[in-house]
Amino acid sequence: MDTIIVTGGAGYIGSHTIIELLTKTNFNVVSIDNFSNSTVKSYARIKEITNKTFETINIDLCDNDRLKTELSKIKNIIGIIHFAAYKSVPESVANPTLYYYNNLNSLNNLLKFAHDQKIKHFIFSSSCSVYGNADELPVTEKTPLKSAESPYGHTKQIGEDIINYVCKTNSDFNAVILRYFNPVGAHPSGKIGEFPLNRPNNLVPIITQTAVGKNSLTVFGNDFDTRDGSCIRDYIHVSDIADAHVKALNYLIDGENKKNVSLFNLGTGNGVSVIEAITSFEKVSGKKLNYAIGGRREGDVVAIFANNNLAKTELKWAPQFSIDDMMLSAWKWQLNLLEEN
Ligand code: UD1
Repeated sequence: MDTIIVTGGAGYIGSHTIIELLTKTNFNVVSIDNFSNSTVKSYARIKEITNKTFETINIDLCDNDRLKTELSKIKNIIGIIHFAAYKSVPESVANPTLYYYNNLNSLNNLLKFAHDQKIKHFIFSSSCSVYGNADELPVTEKTPLKSAESPYGHTKQIGEDIINYVCKTNSDFNAVILRYFNPVGAHPSGKIGEFPLNRPNNLVPIITQTAVGKNSLTVFGNDFDTRDGSCIRDYIHVSDIADAHVKALNYLIDGENKKNVSLFNLGTGNGVSVIEAITSFEKVSGKKLNYAIGGRREGDVVAIFANNNLAKTELKWAPQFSIDDMMLSAWKWQLNLLEEN
């Protein structure tokens, strides 16, 4: 049976993608994770939701020797979906070398392994942070990239460049680069969702934790040149993102890609301000949030949202969930987590 390697498979988007792979495809799935920002409990949750089994390996992808040893034991690898990376904008501003070291070494090691083993298909998690503060919105895949506002965004720009060069020199190697906008929400079952090990930096887990008294929310800036002064993002349901990975994989395997590296924006196309996101949460949860207005956060872009036409036409993908759905599913997951603890 053909095998797909999923790196970061215990993490937020990786775990939701494994669910889609196990329920919508017949591939053998092998997850690699070192639990640096995830929990082994994700695996049990995936098994409970899907009733399917899959292999798991605990390695740090920066450890090239172990990566080669462990992955060489796996038979019939036809593709790699590479999620594992550090992903916090403020943490990357505070500790850039950590981000450059981890996000780029892991990518290089995997690409070298893929090359040596003649693995054909590769899917890379990129981010809308590669656009920087774009001159025109919504951004299309052709929008020129400005300088990244954070080391996190810069590691994604460099990662994309590396993949582009690798694909240029190896016509048998096919990659899809997916630029996620802001993935949020949780699996509709409420059984799995985002599980930050430390204090989260992302807005939605902070909102849901604030609603249960486990955190406090500050809106980072209300003096931006936007409709209510807070930053604008394109929030997209994590299950929509997961679904896009299965479609991207089939796109590569079916040879539908015209070039050997393809690039897609994964967003809904709707810009939502921080205040609007909070209002949506308050509406669906029936909980009023106490929040403060604070200063701007270093590394933040002002506003960004996607033109997603290319993913719709090429991958035959379309987002299914609204901002209210995203907030409701994140809330359901938070409540289930409370019951567990
Ligand atoms: C960035 C990337 C996104 C990537 C994500 C991974 C951009 C534009 N997007 O998201 O593609 O998937 O990193 O982490 O770079 N906020 C508050 N208070 C808080 C936390 C956040 O006001 O306590 C605001 C932020 O200022 C921002 C918005 O909420 O305007 C979303 O922030 P966050 O959830 O951290 O994601 P990004 O940094 O936008």
